[in-house]
Amino acid sequence: MIKMSEYAKRRKELMQKIGSNGIVILPSAPEVFRNGDAVYAYRQNSDFYYLTGFEEPEAVLVLAPKRKEGEYILFNRIRDRDREIWDGPRVGQEGAVEDYLADQAFPFSELTLMLPDLLAGRESIHYPLGINREFDKILMHSVNKVRSKSRGGVHPPAAFVDITTSLHEMRLFKSSAEIASMQKAIDITEKAHVRAMQFCKPNCYEYELEAELMYEFQRNGARYPAYNPIVGAGRNTCILHYVNNNQKINEGDLILIDAGAEYQNYAADITRTFPASGHFTGEQRAIYELVLASQLAAIKSVKPGAVWTAAQSIIVKIITQGLIDLGILKGSLDGLIEKQAYFPFYMHRSGHWLGLDVHDVGRYRVETKWRTLQPGMVFTVEPGIYISADIPGVSKRWHNIGVRIEDNVLVTDKGHEVLSQKIPKTISEIEAVMA
Ligand code: GLY
Ligand code: MN
Ligand code: MN
Repeated sequence: MIKMSEYAKRRKELMQKIGSNGIVILPSAPEVFRNGDAVYAYRQNSDFYYLTGFEEPEAVLVLAPKRKEGEYILFNRIRDRDREIWDGPRVGQEGAVEDYLADQAFPFSELTLMLPDLLAGRESIHYPLGINREFDKILMHSVNKVRSKSRGGVHPPAAFVDITTSLHEMRLFKSSAEIASMQKAIDITEKAHVRAMQFCKPNCYEYELEAELMYEFQRNGARYPAYNPIVGAGRNTCILHYVNNNQKINEGDLILIDAGAEYQNYAADITRTFPASGHFTGEQRAIYELVLASQLAAIKSVKPGAVWTAAQSIIVKIITQGLIDLGILKGSLDGLIEKQAYFPFYMHRSGHWLGLDVHDVGRYRVETKWRTLQPGMVFTVEPGIYISADIPGVSKRWHNIGVRIEDNVLVTDKGHEVLSQKIPKTISEIEAVMA
């Protein structure tokens, strides 16, 4: 559990970054209707959560450095006995101050009234531009209100700054408490993948494996997956974001499961590929060993100072050489890499940052250069080979073999730690778990 003092530290750091003439305005995620009057399960906006730990909708965070009545102002829902009978308890303004360390808290309905005064005299507004249209309007309306008072000597902010630049740079570096939450999400995900492997048998349906995953997530306190689970068998292993999960699994199929739990809003993102029968065929084994070799080599290169793209270069080289060795590609290694001959088989990148969002925030390039790795960064390493029957010129024996292997890796002072290393991955580990 991340302590309230850690959220306070983040707010302080952000205020230092924006300077004492700035103001931060950040709305919570809206509730979204699914159909009729049924809403999607509520998930707080990750930036808002990162700065508040607050999980209710209809809230706005304001950070006003050096404001004498208090720097951290939260607008949130009022306590409402009628609503609370139906929907459960609300934090309210008292709770916002006492439990969430707000300096002041006001009813959400007072936001439009108070915002112009909060903005007046500030030089810059730091805000996630263009994401929440409804709130964009509220904010512009408040800015115009300040403008209308300018003859009285009150000036409106002169600059709008996209807050995500500074905030996402902070989110890229995980604290030990964040890493602990991510480890918990990953440990739950481990149980789920193992359970799905053990449950799997020919003639069951993809959604049955999804049910086993979800069961293990939920019984361990991860109420939701971090993204829609991908459970594809046979030809579906070659569809990168396959989520229909409704086909029958045949005896000779490979199954690709890309699924991760969300725990305290932190994501795990893990892929394992295994044979329905419990035993890899010769062709499946060859492709699997190749993807695994590329993944292990890429992970080995992870250390502070390594460039972000190093993993991708290693993977491309090993996969291309492997496809030559298997007779699937023909030509010289350098020539084939040059013309990206691997692309029909491996069409994505080596991975992405991981954190509150599964494709987490933070820049991959800084100015003109690819970023170098630093301790505290967490990302995925997820090479794959997907031999769809649609790729021309490939012998039929390779068709419908799709393999991805995805782990979650933390950069440490000395090198790296694979946070998901306990999840069965070698052929012998997978065959043993399924036996
Ligand atoms: N689960 C989405 C991804 O691996 O990026
Ligand atoms: Mn994934
Ligand atoms: Mn991923």
